[in-house]
Amino acid sequence: MRHSLIAVGMAFFVAAGAAGAETTKEAALAKAQGMVKQLGSGLKTELQAAIKTSGFDGAVTACGDIAVARADQISEESDAMIHRVSLKLRNPANAPDDYEKGKLEQMDKDLAAGALKEAYVEVVEENGAKSLRFLKPILTNALCLNCHGSEAKIRPEVASALSRLYPDDKARGYEENQVRGAFSVSVPMGR
Ligand code: HEC
Repeated sequence: MRHSLIAVGMAFFVAAGAAGAETTKEAALAKAQGMVKQLGSGLKTELQAAIKTSGFDGAVTACGDIAVARADQISEESDAMIHRVSLKLRNPANAPDDYEKGKLEQMDKDLAAGALKEAYVEVVEENGAKSLRFLKPILTNALCLNCHGSEAKIRPEVASALSRLYPDDKARGYEENQVRGAFSVSVPMGR
């Protein structure tokens, strides 16, 4: 009996090890930063290239297509998860969980107070399992306003494509330098 318990314990330990859970905060943080860098760098350049080739209306879904494909690939290559989240959604699939929602609200407050952080990092424990949560704000610039700005900034053909594809679109009306959303990473840290 004792033997089989030990065996189960060992099997669990090995399984957790095989999943590659990061055991220190430093290691988990380094992983999260690396994943955000991988997803974030080049995203704007790729979006700009798509717009140059197909125009704003032709490239209307590029912002999501490129980010989602890259995020899925990066998550697949590791045991951690990365995606983009926002409080004002265009695609409901990018909805934040309660934790992410709280941090996004904090970002809006911090930005208004001139105290927006580079990243929001914390080790949390859920159902006995620890993970590092890492959120990095995504700010708007002039390019973004072509599809996320006020009515005056969005061309009619883009506006009609957006309304067709996203009937419940909330991701308009932004100005430059606002928090459009965040890159959110969750790195498992074992038990
Ligand atoms: C060519 C139009 C276009 C441009 C330009 C654009 N976006 Fe988007 N964006 C979209 C569309 C369409 C979606 C929904 C994508 C999907 O279906 O996943 C989206 C989704 C997002 C999301 C995910 C949250 C959500 O609401 O679904 C973020 C974050 C985002 N965009 C940020 C930006 C930023 C930052 C810029 C500027 C650097 C930018 N976008 C420029 C069209 C655009």
